[in-house]
Amino acid sequence: MSEKILVIGANGQIGTELVMALRNIHGAEAVVASDINSPTYAMRSSTGPFELVNVLDKDNLHHIFDKHRPTQVYLLAAILSAVGEQKPKMAWDLNMTGLLHILDFAVEFKVAKVFWPSSIAVFGPHSPQHHTPQYCVMDPNTVYGFSKLAGERWCEYYFNKYGLDVRSIRYPGLIGWKANPGGGTTDYAVHIFHQALKTGKYESFLAEGTALPMMYMDDAIRATISLMDAPAEKISIRSSYNLAGISFTPEQLAAEIQKLIPGFEISYSENDPRQAIADSWPKSIDDSYAQNDWGWQLEYDLPKMVADMLGNLKNII
Ligand code: SER
Repeated sequence: MSEKILVIGANGQIGTELVMALRNIHGAEAVVASDINSPTYAMRSSTGPFELVNVLDKDNLHHIFDKHRPTQVYLLAAILSAVGEQKPKMAWDLNMTGLLHILDFAVEFKVAKVFWPSSIAVFGPHSPQHHTPQYCVMDPNTVYGFSKLAGERWCEYYFNKYGLDVRSIRYPGLIGWKANPGGGTTDYAVHIFHQALKTGKYESFLAEGTALPMMYMDDAIRATISLMDAPAEKISIRSSYNLAGISFTPEQLAAEIQKLIPGFEISYSENDPRQAIADSWPKSIDDSYAQNDWGWQLEYDLPKMVADMLGNLKNII
């Protein structure tokens, strides 16, 4: 069967890279990119269909499903953790109602597979912070976090109730050079590279010692596509899979950058509201279910990620 893939939220940090990767595999015409905003420069340079879509506009969304009859849908439109705390009701509405619209239309239009991203933000202050297991206490205290946790429950529910083949990953903080992150707590780990190349210094909004799980975008895209390609019987988790990535603190990242940009300096701001969010999240993750179920293996450790990031970013900055 030839695939028709709808990516919603294509202009974002994940969407930009995922659309390119899917078009390389399936051909440009098979991948319909869509976003609430007009295509970004990066999106325009990747030829292929583009639709303006607001996931809260049910009529328009229905029309897009009807027009393209997708076999796979990736729903990436969301409000992230930091922006979500400034606009809590809007974040809940977009993250939750948007998901429910997609799940309903996926059932109605018999979409074969749906991907929806969850996050390390589903964990909270009472979750184990080190090697956080797949199943444990989850008491997220950000709107973003509990919208993702509720979303996971809905995904599993649609799988059990309607047989919808929905798959999900709890992404760590994502780091890539092709697109910027949009309002999360882990954004510092992207900004630092831009500032290292532009000015040789960076003021981190997260404090020294703040370890968080992170992942290079190449690994995140490969994980996503490999989860979506896995035979359905290998998928034992229909809520969302833990993915560990690499855990590091701002000073460990800075030290790695200093090896390639000697003289790079990091400083730390105080009283940033994102610190409390970071402190409520895991420091490291156990992803043995992903390894055992669909053979997940990480490729980029910290030095490899930093070298690749700086090598690519310096050509476009
Ligand atoms: N990277 C996201 C954020 O910081 C977490 O999923 O909000």
